[in-house]
Amino acid sequence: MAAVRTTDALVAAVSVVVLSLFFNNLKSKSSSSKSPKLSESKKKSRQGLVGAVGNTPLIRINSLSDATGCEILGKCEFLNPGGSVKDRVAVKIIEEALESGKLTPGGVVTEGSAGSTAISLATVAPAYGCKCHVVIPDDVAIEKSQIIEALGATVERVRPVSITHRDHYVNIARRRASEANELAAKDKISEQIDGKEAEQLNGYVPNGEKHSSSRSMNCKGGFFADQFENLANFHAHYEGTGPEIWEQTRGNLDAFVAAAGTGGTVAGVSKFLQEKNPNIKCYLIDPPGSGLFNKVTRGVMYTKQEAEGRRLKNPFDTITEGIGINRITQNFMQAKLDGAFRGTDMEAVEMSRFLLKNDGLFLGSSSAMNCVGAVRVAQAIGPGHTIVTILCDSGMRHLSKFHSADYLSQFGLTPKATGLEFLGIN
Ligand SMILES: Cc1ncc(COP(=O)(O)O)c(C=O)c1O
Repeated sequence: MAAVRTTDALVAAVSVVVLSLFFNNLKSKSSSSKSPKLSESKKKSRQGLVGAVGNTPLIRINSLSDATGCEILGKCEFLNPGGSVKDRVAVKIIEEALESGKLTPGGVVTEGSAGSTAISLATVAPAYGCKCHVVIPDDVAIEKSQIIEALGATVERVRPVSITHRDHYVNIARRRASEANELAAKDKISEQIDGKEAEQLNGYVPNGEKHSSSRSMNCKGGFFADQFENLANFHAHYEGTGPEIWEQTRGNLDAFVAAAGTGGTVAGVSKFLQEKNPNIKCYLIDPPGSGLFNKVTRGVMYTKQEAEGRRLKNPFDTITEGIGINRITQNFMQAKLDGAFRGTDMEAVEMSRFLLKNDGLFLGSSSAMNCVGAVRVAQAIGPGHTIVTILCDSGMRHLSKFHSADYLSQFGLTPKATGLEFLGIN
């Protein structure tokens, strides 16, 4: 009996070992079958703040799609870390400048911007070890300069003047970069002189005193971002926004529409999409005071009346911020456009309130104008088409003007529509 019991015990022990080996094997198999998922999810984590820029969602704007019979899709650029489409541009400008050696780590990036690009540059510059100095017109919503300052950048608010004036905010920003470069050059010379002094002393620094080059401001030079003429802007959209739209729609889109400020977005996206499929129609929506509608539709910047000097004193006499321009930039020149529409301030205001009420989308003025453009395109090409536009930034940036009832009433822009009747849809 004892022998039997011993055998039983042995069998039981062996079974436990075999079973535990079996289960361990199973466990390790199942955990190894999980590991690709784990590494996949690891792959999905993005690198730092810069890695969080781009790859924004493309959403169906339900109210406009239902009203027009088209699929109207909005690229949610307001979800970028710096809150706007300009994050892409800031990243690309800094990366190209660092690669070319025109900007060195620790240097200052300067820009003349009506706000969004400045916010984006101020947001991403520290991630590259750089500083930021922005010059903006003093009629831009105050919350924009408050944000830039809070981000640690230097802000200069100046009177809006013509681009041909030396004190236009863009020209001042260019000057600030040159000044930083002059300072850096002086620092280098004094470092060299001090270096020579030190050499003459065989490198001896008396009483452990700091080397006299500590007099220097330690300026690492400046780089003028120049979002209007710098093609890094166009590249950001040609290499980023355009391909993302193509992938997100699986190439199933009929039209793209956007307003232009620098023209970087409309140029980069339209060129990419038309290279992929020349049948995709690309359009501009142009705000009041801008000459681009005439340029696209008639090949000239100004209408006859405008050429006769009857243009508005301030050609940007619109409440939409960041869009509309009266010159052709290097970035805009890359655009492949099939046509253009005009949008009014009233339409943009009504559109923003309509989207807020019907879709919960709280958008800035250029996004609202882009959506006006999307409806105009839908009306022009008819139902059954897919139209993509850009939701550039959120309404949070526009509380003191575009989303202020008091401000709008001063300009007779109090919204009153109940639906889309302002665009002829009942
Ligand atoms: C809020 C906002 N939307 C749209 C635009 C226009 O985009 P782009 O400069 O690519 O033409 C700008 C440009 O500054 C902007 O600031």
